[in-house]
Amino acid sequence: MRSSRWWQSAVFYQIYPRSFADGNGDGIGDFLGLIDKLDYLRDLGVQALWLSPHYPSPNVDVGYDISDYLGVAPEYGTLADFRRFLDGAHGRGIRVLIDLVLNHTSDAHPWFQQSRSSRENPKRDWYVWRDPAPDGGPPNNWRSRFGGPAWTLDETTGQYYYHFFFKEQPDLNWRHPEVKRAMWEVARFWLDLGVDGFRLDAVSTIFEDPSLTPHQSSLPEAEMLTEGRTNRSPEETQAFRQQFELLFRHQTHQPGLHELMKELRALVDEYPGERVLIGECHKIEFYGNGDDELHLVFNFPLMRTRRLTPAWIRANQAERLAAMPPGAWPCNTLGNHDVGRMKTSYGDGVHDDDLARLHAAMLLTLKGTPVLYHGEEIGMTDWLLDRVEDLRDRQAVHMYRLLIREGVPEREAMRRAAEMSRDRCRTPFQWANAANAGFSPAGATTWLPVNPNYAQGVNVADQQNDPRSLLNFYRRLIAARQASPALREGDYTPLLPNDDHCLAFLRASPEQRCLVALNFSAESLTRNVALAPPARLRTVFTSHQRRAADEDPGHLTLAPFEAYIGEIQPS
Ligand code: NOJ
Repeated sequence: MRSSRWWQSAVFYQIYPRSFADGNGDGIGDFLGLIDKLDYLRDLGVQALWLSPHYPSPNVDVGYDISDYLGVAPEYGTLADFRRFLDGAHGRGIRVLIDLVLNHTSDAHPWFQQSRSSRENPKRDWYVWRDPAPDGGPPNNWRSRFGGPAWTLDETTGQYYYHFFFKEQPDLNWRHPEVKRAMWEVARFWLDLGVDGFRLDAVSTIFEDPSLTPHQSSLPEAEMLTEGRTNRSPEETQAFRQQFELLFRHQTHQPGLHELMKELRALVDEYPGERVLIGECHKIEFYGNGDDELHLVFNFPLMRTRRLTPAWIRANQAERLAAMPPGAWPCNTLGNHDVGRMKTSYGDGVHDDDLARLHAAMLLTLKGTPVLYHGEEIGMTDWLLDRVEDLRDRQAVHMYRLLIREGVPEREAMRRAAEMSRDRCRTPFQWANAANAGFSPAGATTWLPVNPNYAQGVNVADQQNDPRSLLNFYRRLIAARQASPALREGDYTPLLPNDDHCLAFLRASPEQRCLVALNFSAESLTRNVALAPPARLRTVFTSHQRRAADEDPGHLTLAPFEAYIGEIQPS
């Protein structure tokens, strides 16, 4: 095996710039704030950041509707501020990936403005335009992922344009060579500036079936809008995914995608220092031959469950790792800006603090690059808004209106909209037990309300100096991982294959072998993790204080919810 590459051994950390740190007191996160927090990130121990979009945007989809790919949103700062941030991160040994949205632009982007101005405009075919159906309606029954039809009529030219997401996010026509050329120039602009790679947005949606084959799915709209929900039973999940895939069958995963990803990979490979592509997609095929498409593909299937159980995790690993081409490297995550926060989604309402630690230990010890979502290290939880005017996620506003139209009572409609709203995991980062959680100064109105649990210890300042805090747990855990070649680079071998309570596995690299044992139950338990040849375990990490320096794997006792890592020593 080749010695590991930086992006294989790094711990990644996602920053949602609008919510991370407000440096100028306007209630919105920005680069000034971010620069100020770089020492925090260094001390946490992460080696790479993924920054959600920082470009100018009308913010219909909070930055995922880009109106200028070569700039910085004025509310976040200037290009000079971006450079200072990048230099500051690099100076601390932290790499930076930015978000690249290929599928669509904002409708305010000059490309689209030109495209929609007349049928003869040279940029007309940069987007996907079609004549109305004979009855004047949309060209076919395709849906927008964010609700409503995927087609919007543009009165000026009497044609419909296609949008997989909001109508303010028209899809680019990637079959047009100039679109590709323009977007590759964008990629080069940022690579020349020194970014270390891209998180690629919505990869699977880039092409659509040119013959516009209608879909045949019966998934109701309100159901479709709750794709990120984890509290479905396994049977419900299966039925849901089947209909969901049918619904978008002709709008996603179309031919041409892999060739396109190969081209982008060749482009980033021209740059020194191993620039990296992480895809917002989950299919193994996006690894290509393991070295010619995306470097990392999120293991989203791991997250698609109501409860993280040893059986679920083992099955996910077995399936995923077996399917990967040689040389490809896994990428695990338990949260991002589109889904419920991990502490809320995978808690049981009783042992949430213990489970948050256990799940973090799982994420940071499985084989692969872990991607953390900002705030999980201090135990931030979902915050459900209760006023429709506070919703910033337009998808939730759509859901609310849909439910009201269906006759659902107002409070119930609001509850359901808040539960599916992505605002729930996007509230401002909680820096201190102070006004606005220390995100913005007192008196500022933050862009989303602050989760009031900052006053109950869910903040950095309170946790910083408490050795037993979740924040310090993450720091210790990340440090233990980064000091261990086996955890960073090693192979994965599952142990105790039928155990309902204990997830145990080996991680082995040429230099080191480690046993990871995670107790998913509220009872203490003892396991015989027979190792051949017989060996002792040197404790490398434990979530519990009372652990001996040396353990017998034949008789390994774990406290309730304990996460234990031991280095295997020949006895
Ligand atoms: C995926 C992003 O993660 C999400 O936030 C966004 O709304 C869509 N892609 C559209 O860009």
